[in-house]
Amino acid sequence: MKKVVILISGRGSNMEAILRAQPPVEFAAVISNKADAAGLETARAHGIPTAVLSHKGFDSREAFDAELARLIDGYTPDLIVLAGFMRILSEGFVRHYEGRMINIHPSLLPAFTGLNTHARAIDEGCKLHGCTVHFVTGELDHGPIIAQAAVPVLNDDTPETLSARVLVQEHRLYPEAVRWFAEDRLSLLDGKVRVRLDTVDPSASLRFPA
Ligand code: GRF
Repeated sequence: MKKVVILISGRGSNMEAILRAQPPVEFAAVISNKADAAGLETARAHGIPTAVLSHKGFDSREAFDAELARLIDGYTPDLIVLAGFMRILSEGFVRHYEGRMINIHPSLLPAFTGLNTHARAIDEGCKLHGCTVHFVTGELDHGPIIAQAAVPVLNDDTPETLSARVLVQEHRLYPEAVRWFAEDRLSLLDGKVRVRLDTVDPSASLRFPA
């Protein structure tokens, strides 16, 4: 069984969705850079070992990332899952976990990298918005896309209502992606992810307004 380490900084709702979905993996640990991350309590309630490594007190990003990597590697994980881990990662850290670190971002990448994605999608008048699970590369919120889910943007949406609608999809998409990794259904070809699924519907589409 593949071993997974999840990194969080806050509420950890994606982490919880993944734990609840019970993909065929061993959850080795949940690690937070913030001692007061609510998700730590949730992880403990699921019986998962937790660890905290505060980024404060380190001289540089590289020094913190090196210590974090040491902590992570102590659990010998096959996959690192970033679930609301609010840190920019150094180049060396990303390279060390190339092909085995994934992230969820609340937009349909490559649109809206960075922060405030929901407000920006509303400002641009997007009719569809969503979330993306991707392998992590050196460029922030870039990297080979594993899966995406789209939701409609409604006329009276606020960033809050839109974010809540996207989050429902995040909680479905991310556990699935972890399961695919666990089942060896993901492969990288020319920098693109192939997902091997038993059935796909090539006529499926999401259109809004319909
Ligand atoms: C989510 O919106 C996720 O897309 C982004 O950070 C947020 C984390 O939320 N990367 P949670 O901690 O999983 O509830």
